[in-house]
Amino acid sequence: MNKTIVSASILSADLTALGADLKKCAENGVDWVHFDVMDGVFVDNISYGIPVLESVNKATDMFLDVHLMITDPYKYVDAFAKAGADMITFHLESSSDADKTIELIRSKGLKAGIAVRPKTPVEELVPFFGKVDMFLVMTVEPGFGGQGFIPETLDKVAQLRKLLSEKGLDTIIQTDGGINGKTAPAVREAGCDCLVSGSYLFKAENMSDAVKIIRG
Ligand code: DX5
Ligand code: ZN
Repeated sequence: MNKTIVSASILSADLTALGADLKKCAENGVDWVHFDVMDGVFVDNISYGIPVLESVNKATDMFLDVHLMITDPYKYVDAFAKAGADMITFHLESSSDADKTIELIRSKGLKAGIAVRPKTPVEELVPFFGKVDMFLVMTVEPGFGGQGFIPETLDKVAQLRKLLSEKGLDTIIQTDGGINGKTAPAVREAGCDCLVSGSYLFKAENMSDAVKIIRG
């Protein structure tokens, strides 16, 4: 397996000084910027969207990992692609047709990912094996930063890694929610190779050390 990827969720950044926090991420070993989009319908929260991503894209050269927690991701792929996304991950539980959404994301030259909520079985991802670059196994209910890690999701990560290995695939498995120095080792052990972290990274006294701890 390649090097573990650390993706910083800027939902926990200082949004009045986002440029400075993006620079801090780049200087402290963060690999990707995780951009959480919430529409207040698919999840009970509203975050930020296209114009903010455009600004982020101007402010950093880092890989932009966009996590769409929205009802109809298909409708917004073009706009997020134009705004600078490098990867678009959408939820299997959304109302868009997953195959068509993957195709559209790929047609823009971007990497594609599919996310599942904690209660969605990983078997539902099997039809998309070989079609996407990444599977995101949510380790909290999507909607808010700073929540506690749901331990039952570890089995899902292990099960998904096993199913992928059986097919000879090394697709990236991302986990998102409640990832910190205590939970990261178990998540990696289960087979996750891309860890999203928000509050733990941005609240850390030393971000570089926190990144190293998450990466393991
Ligand atoms: C939750 C978001 C996460 C969130 C993670 O719905 O998808 O990316 O920002 O935040 P922490 O790491 O604080 O749980
Ligand atoms: Zn996220």
